[in-house]
Amino acid sequence: MSNKLWGGRFSKDTNVLVRRLNDSVEFDQRLWSEDIRASGAWAQALAQAGVLTSAECAQLEAGLESVRAEFTTGTFEFAAGDEDIHTAVERRLTELAGSVGGKLHTGRSRNDQVATDFRLWIMQACEDLAREVSGLQAALIESAAAHLHAIMPGYTHLQQAQPVTWGQWALSHFWPLVRDAARLANARGAAGVLPLGSGALAGTAFPVDRDALARALGFTSVSPNSMDAVSDRDFVADFLYAGAMIGLHLSRLAEQLLLFSSAEFGYVVVDDAYSTGSSLMPQKKNADPLELARGKTGRLLGNLHSLLVVLKGLPSTYDKDLQEDKEPAFDTFDTLLALLPVVAGLVRSLEVRPQAMAARLLPGLLATDLADELVKQGVPFRAAHGLVGVLVQRADRLGIAFTELSFAERQKISVHFTDEVWARLEFEHSLQRRAQTGGTAKAALEAQLMAARAAVRGE
Ligand code: ARG
Repeated sequence: MSNKLWGGRFSKDTNVLVRRLNDSVEFDQRLWSEDIRASGAWAQALAQAGVLTSAECAQLEAGLESVRAEFTTGTFEFAAGDEDIHTAVERRLTELAGSVGGKLHTGRSRNDQVATDFRLWIMQACEDLAREVSGLQAALIESAAAHLHAIMPGYTHLQQAQPVTWGQWALSHFWPLVRDAARLANARGAAGVLPLGSGALAGTAFPVDRDALARALGFTSVSPNSMDAVSDRDFVADFLYAGAMIGLHLSRLAEQLLLFSSAEFGYVVVDDAYSTGSSLMPQKKNADPLELARGKTGRLLGNLHSLLVVLKGLPSTYDKDLQEDKEPAFDTFDTLLALLPVVAGLVRSLEVRPQAMAARLLPGLLATDLADELVKQGVPFRAAHGLVGVLVQRADRLGIAFTELSFAERQKISVHFTDEVWARLEFEHSLQRRAQTGGTAKAALEAQLMAARAAVRGE
């Protein structure tokens, strides 16, 4: 008989290459703390159900505490037969506590155990990432507040479109993070359903109080179906989706800052502490962290995709495919935990250059305002759009800005292009006309900033 937990019905040792493929302890040892915690709660639930005596329960709890101490002090030694973190903890518990260790797994399966451990881990991971997201939110708010009304060209299709301000731009990267925080909270909620007590697939035969177990471990409810409980990895997908969206938002912010920090734009200067140099070109200063934020988003998207593909078409209950759920989640967590504070620090230390932004404003940014002026004179917007289009084309032919066309030239196109209208064609005026919620006018921006501050406070 083999010395493994399930060795009884086997007459041969597992092929060594199969073991290497099958074992997950190399990566799931990360769940040691959750595994010990869930095992302690399970021992208590068994005792409350009368399955263990209180003395046995106390022995198990003391043994688990010793195992915990070995992990925290870095003295835990994995043994050759440890297949995963669950078998490793149980093996060591039995070594330390004696044969009572063999009673811990009563009514429990690694199927409900791993789902429980992993849910505990994901709940904590969501909280940790939410904290980092709010750090970046604070940095964006700070930057927005410092240059709330600093005018800059706004772009669509990367072409100058309408004037905006730095505050508006910075906050446009803040609000997506509010939704990301909500997605993380949602993923945490999805993870907060207790699978323990589902056994391998059919439920547990011992009268454990699952609601009490849920409360003891910080879950908000218990799974209503034992088969679903051991199959369900939706909560991992929710977590990876939340992570992928954070990645998308970081990559978009990164791409814009890379562009704005180029010599061609010069709107911002990335701090030396957040830049790296070139081994050949002495003058170079590259914002590598931003490129990594953009680049690492690839793996964040990949992690979500890889889990979804693993889950597709799986028969219900536990299949070993599910062991593939952990590495993507660990990687998404580690990647974001490395990125978020760096991007936050980079934003916080960014030098914003309002003069450089103002110097880039092209008259074309006011074309919409001109059409709006005609609307005020009763011209239907579609007709006004056409007239301004003709005006812009005429100016293009003459090689000047449309705002520079002479009165006579303008009048040839429309009598509505008066001097009075021309006097109102100013960048600042364009900002102030947009006074509704979400617009660029002073009061609207100030209100938006207050709303952003309230949102980080959770109001
Ligand atoms: N290491 C396994 C995993 O991560 C634990 C569950 C094993 N269950 C089983 N029936 N073999 O999924």
